[in-house]
Amino acid sequence: MGKTVLVIGTGTIGEPLIGLLADIRKDVGIDEVIFNKHTPLVHDRTKVIYLMRRGAKLAVDEEKIPQFQELGMEPTYTKLEALDRADVVIDCTPKGFGMENKREYYKNFEHNTLGFIAQGSEFGFGKMYVHGVNDEALVPGEDRYIQVVSCNTHNLAVLIHTLALSGGPDNLVEGRFVCMRRANDISQTSSYVPSPTVSEHIDPRFGTHHARDAHHLFQTLGLELNLFSSAIKLNTQYMHTIWFHLSLKRPTTLERVHELLHENRHIAVTHKKSANLVFSFGRDHGHYGRILNNTVVVLPSLHVSGDGKEIHGFCFTPQDGNSLLSSVAATLWFLYPDDYTERLRVLEPYFYQEI
Ligand SMILES: NC(=O)c1ccc[n+]([C@@H]2O[C@H](COP(=O)([O-])OP(=O)(O)OC[C@H]3O[C@@H](n4cnc5c(N)ncnc54)[C@H](OP(=O)(O)O)[C@@H]3O)[C@@H](O)[C@H]2O)c1
Repeated sequence: MGKTVLVIGTGTIGEPLIGLLADIRKDVGIDEVIFNKHTPLVHDRTKVIYLMRRGAKLAVDEEKIPQFQELGMEPTYTKLEALDRADVVIDCTPKGFGMENKREYYKNFEHNTLGFIAQGSEFGFGKMYVHGVNDEALVPGEDRYIQVVSCNTHNLAVLIHTLALSGGPDNLVEGRFVCMRRANDISQTSSYVPSPTVSEHIDPRFGTHHARDAHHLFQTLGLELNLFSSAIKLNTQYMHTIWFHLSLKRPTTLERVHELLHENRHIAVTHKKSANLVFSFGRDHGHYGRILNNTVVVLPSLHVSGDGKEIHGFCFTPQDGNSLLSSVAATLWFLYPDDYTERLRVLEPYFYQEI
């Protein structure tokens, strides 16, 4: 039986995900990659055509087929045909649409689909997931809906997992984070800010959604962590930057922190202190500019207190690369739960130990 993966949405996260899946499909055991584009737009034509050249097939709403054809984009399937063929569906639509699609479409295709995946904004869609952090929480045959958490939540999660929980499940006393977000993505034209703009602490317990989502992620492992996050948007387009403070029960040393970071292949370290240098490295050595690590920790920024119980530091969030990796990992987990990590090795050239 052929394995088919359908990506819904061709935006900031959908476009690179479709391209990545098309590029690696033969190596990882995917026969067909289909993408659903919602709106026929002349300025999106090149993106669609080049994704098709890389081997992905276009699916659109049946009534929009003539509009796509008029613009020179030839669909292979209707959206419903694509949903019917898909073994795994990855929803990459804006906030709220994933939940709506779950109600309107995905529930009707559960009988012939292994699983559905949504992205960072779809709180409540399914089990929260970060590849390399809570893989053991996924239950084959039971988990049909997975939410790949946001890129900054990936970053928080891997820091907590590596620097605190490696010392025992009860080792984290508290984790505090300031997410300094880039104003918008390279591909986006709206939401740029002219100066640093702070976010409200809308969550009474966790501050912003980053700590809330990380808390829920670790709940899948049976842990109740004390986390709090704040967020500020900066007038840069390069990378998100995170300041972190982990308070531990058991003391550590700076040397041990370096060792732990080195041992985790999802973490890159760097001596570069500027986000544009790390971003630029990704442009030259990543997959279409993206490195797939969960975080890039700035070594000179690390500080361990005299009693060894407080770790402070800064790290950069690798664009959308970490969410792309978890999306591919979740897809392969649905398709091949027994050996998906082996199959993921094809992406190892884009995990860096040092940047
Ligand atoms: N931006 C990031 O770096 C990033 C990182 C991690 C996670 N995420 C998450 O990824 C998700 C998508 O974010 P994004 O930044 O990629 O959004 P985006 O750039 O706005 O793209 C969303 C895409 O969905 C399609 N779409 C719009 N309305 C639709 C509808 N009614 N039905 C179906 N498709 C529709 C759009 O049109 P077409 O189908 O016509 O293309 C668009 O390409 C969010 O959950 C976000 O939190 C984003």
